[in-house]
Amino acid sequence: MTQMQADDRLIVALDVPNALQGLATAQTLGEAVSFYKIGLGMLTGGGLALANELKREHGKRIFLDMKLFDISNTVEAAVRGLAQFDLDLLTVHGDPHVVRAAREGAAGSDMKILAVTILTSLDRGDLDAGLMKPGEVADLVVERAARALEAGADGVIASPQEAAAIRALPQAEDRLIVTPGVRPAGADKGDQKRIATPAAAIGAGADHIVVGRPVVQAADPRAAAQAILAELAGA
Ligand code: C5P
Repeated sequence: MTQMQADDRLIVALDVPNALQGLATAQTLGEAVSFYKIGLGMLTGGGLALANELKREHGKRIFLDMKLFDISNTVEAAVRGLAQFDLDLLTVHGDPHVVRAAREGAAGSDMKILAVTILTSLDRGDLDAGLMKPGEVADLVVERAARALEAGADGVIASPQEAAAIRALPQAEDRLIVTPGVRPAGADKGDQKRIATPAAAIGAGADHIVVGRPVVQAADPRAAAQAILAELAGA
């Protein structure tokens, strides 16, 4: 970390409707934030162009949250195309064939592949409806993480509650854990159910935390980001 480049453990989710608003938010945040997540919701609103601009013109790191899932051939082709955008992180679903195909597609680039285990919005009832095997969701998350890491994922997305169990896996050595569902003390939970503070998430073994609304919808986004960075600095 340099004086000019903020602590990249904080990834701000640019969950705004289009690239123009994303750029405006990033300009408001300025040097306080060095890493941005651009999600599916922004793909049709110029998300890739924004990723390019933030990377090339502003020197930011980019996490493209696409959660890809398809047959191997299609995943590989999609990832190969995205690898040309000079991205830092890309998500795919954690099924081993998807992870292996994504690794192939990313070969020769610096883009890291992160696996999604089980979406945090799903409960056991949803998994039953999707014919997922019996068991506690928390256990299945760790099992899926292990398989995705064995298949070559550079890391996984995990809720703060799952991070410690995944960090303890031998397969997780030297791999990344990125946790959304992070809320500074006193912040609105929104629709997040399993939350932790920034310091607790890092303490549980996360390398990066993803924070969206508590920063981008704050009255003073820059101050909100700086408060999180201050918490991380003391963690
Ligand atoms: O606004 P908030 O801080 O809740 O945003 C969290 C970000 O992380 C959102 O972009 C959301 O889609 C994403 N995310 C999540 N839980 C997951 C995967 C991604 O909240 N399991």
